[in-house]
Amino acid sequence: PHHVPDILSPEFAENPYPVYRAMREHTPLLWHEATRSHVLSRHEDVERAFKDKEGLFTTDNYGWQIEPVHGRTILQLSGREHAVRRALVAPAFRGDELREKFLPVIERNARELIDAFRYTGATDLVDSFATRFPVNVIADMLGLDKADHARFHRWYSSVVAYLGNLTGDPEVTAAGERTRVEFAEYLLPVIRERRRNPGDDLLSTLCLAEVDGVRMSDEDVKAFCSLLLAAGGETTDKAIGSVFAHLLAHPEQFAAVREDRSLIGRAFAETLRYTPPVQMIMRQTAAEVTVSGGTIPAGATVICLIGSANRDAARYRDPDTFDIFRDDLDADTAFSAAAGHLAFALGRHFCVGALLARAEVETGIGMLLDAMPGLRLADGFVPAEQGVFTRGHPALPVRFDPVTR
Ligand code: HEM
Repeated sequence: PHHVPDILSPEFAENPYPVYRAMREHTPLLWHEATRSHVLSRHEDVERAFKDKEGLFTTDNYGWQIEPVHGRTILQLSGREHAVRRALVAPAFRGDELREKFLPVIERNARELIDAFRYTGATDLVDSFATRFPVNVIADMLGLDKADHARFHRWYSSVVAYLGNLTGDPEVTAAGERTRVEFAEYLLPVIRERRRNPGDDLLSTLCLAEVDGVRMSDEDVKAFCSLLLAAGGETTDKAIGSVFAHLLAHPEQFAAVREDRSLIGRAFAETLRYTPPVQMIMRQTAAEVTVSGGTIPAGATVICLIGSANRDAARYRDPDTFDIFRDDLDADTAFSAAAGHLAFALGRHFCVGALLARAEVETGIGMLLDAMPGLRLADGFVPAEQGVFTRGHPALPVRFDPVTR
């Protein structure tokens, strides 16, 4: 009766938001034959799957979805083992350790990148900043050599492409598998060296940590780093481009942010709601589940559409409007598990890097605004998002009035 375009169609890739709306209205539980998955699009259903109070939505699917490229990460784990391993990195991404130890790292990395273009009056914000800054910060936190930045970026891009390979394109699969091999060849020797000569970095913490009196294997430490680079790189990268694209498209809100830098956090939170970098996340049912008037059998793959949930009119007023001042998105809790938007998921796998992402974006964008008065899009450039699994701006050429030396 209602034609809802397919999530693999070019129409969807170009602009998924009208398709999401049609799904929420007509097929809130959709069987998707090509990927053999059940698709959830309403805020209440996606939120329920993430919170998983009933133990029905597992991450067992990551066993086949990400294990082949990353190895065994905290995403696949549950229960005590998950909690203990997650706790190894969590302190570095929040509170005192973030402020005292890593805020200087964030500032230094932003400065290094901005200094490369600040006197020129023109740059591509995605190429010169967004794709480099988050991955450089994590590499520094882990104590890896940033000169290898280009490799890290290539690796995490192919890992993320592997995850989003809904059609099973063999080239994408092969590139992901190559990445697993290359990353292991790169990192395993570093891990062995770090075990002998530990330093004050996150990789040393992972190497030395004992879980129930046992250290993590080299393979598991490698998998953890691989996850951190991909989860912290691809996502924050996309978010930074999108914050600028939305602010440049809304001059009054942009002027307000320029005037009051404490609004950057709101702009970031609203960007995460409006165009979440991770558009969909998969789960696997542990038993039969009834949702939005239908049932999903046990052991089924479920695609949770974050990009749709965040535009659900049942949750947000005027959901298709970008409004950093909206009162139904609480900017103070937007980076915690109390967030209403689902860009960081919720529940036990809630993004452990959410506060790091906020610190990076607030610091990085504040410094960019200082360095780029009169920021505007390059003449004739029309920003356009791309991507189905993750989504963001492949380019954002801008001009500005350079501050003279
Ligand atoms: C988990 C999104 C930044 C590290 C997640 C999940 C989402 C997400 C949706 C949940 C995955 C699932 O439940 O299956 C984002 C977004 C970010 C961001 C949108 C930026 C805007 C970061 C950063 C780091 C990071 C900066 C740290 C380097 C992780 C890790 C997990 C995770 C390790 C797994 C947590 C667990 O399984 O317990 N992220 N993330 N993320 N994120 Fe982020």
